[in-house]
Amino acid sequence: MAYPRTTADYERVETCLGIDIGGTGIKGAPVDTAAGRLLHDRVRQLTPQPSAPDAVVDVVCDVVARFSWRGPVGITFPGVVLDGVTHTAANVDKGWVDLDARRRFSEALHAPVTVVNDADAAGIAEMRFGAGRDRRGTVLVLTFGTGIGSALFHDGVLVPNTEFGHLELNGHEAEHHAAGNVREEHGLSWDHWAHRVQHYLRHLEMLFSPSLFIIGGGVSKKAEKFLPHIKHVRAEIVPAALHNDAGIVGAALAARADHGAVPIPKC
Ligand code: BGC
Repeated sequence: MAYPRTTADYERVETCLGIDIGGTGIKGAPVDTAAGRLLHDRVRQLTPQPSAPDAVVDVVCDVVARFSWRGPVGITFPGVVLDGVTHTAANVDKGWVDLDARRRFSEALHAPVTVVNDADAAGIAEMRFGAGRDRRGTVLVLTFGTGIGSALFHDGVLVPNTEFGHLELNGHEAEHHAAGNVREEHGLSWDHWAHRVQHYLRHLEMLFSPSLFIIGGGVSKKAEKFLPHIKHVRAEIVPAALHNDAGIVGAALAARADHGAVPIPKC
């Protein structure tokens, strides 16, 4: 595919740019929102440390500029987001607490922006195009990366900002015990980590009785290493189909829902 240079290189009405802000990386790509696929290899930059709003906004502007993008932009954020305002910041700089992030981004990008919780974005993408497609009933999408993100669906409808990574489990916050980064930082074996995840899933099952768990985040690419170790959970458990791109796709879908889409690049 030819690299899109300017807005004039986009011709059908289906595309939004998705940006996924994570604890370690900020990734983005234009997304065909009708097909749920990236239209270009994603661009990834490191999340600045500290991840203060000004520094993150600069990196997001850089990523957007790499695609010469001028249309709507969807941006995920790893915390509670209500009406464009970021309210919590468990794994990022506290400067994000109660910040009008949508306004900040849209002023910097000179573009219409939607800001959405990262796990909600991944969940939206999985339910539309991935492992949750056509699934009714209660579905819980969980992302295991820096922290644990959650997205709860019933009959395809999202309950936003559920924050189940902060549930208490044996006196610990679940994400301090079973997040993907905990496995890496503590050098846990896959089966040891899987045992912790199993404990967490059983707790969620007791509370919500989902029929399906979708496991997302970086670990979804290594499902064979930990899923076989998870037993004694009634619900079906599957890895996310869009893997780590789910956040980018979901961000773009959220932007499309708010602002419409712009033409897709000529291929
Ligand atoms: C945040 C959530 C986020 C999750 C994954 C948690 O610490 O509170 O909002 O979805 O990390 O990034």
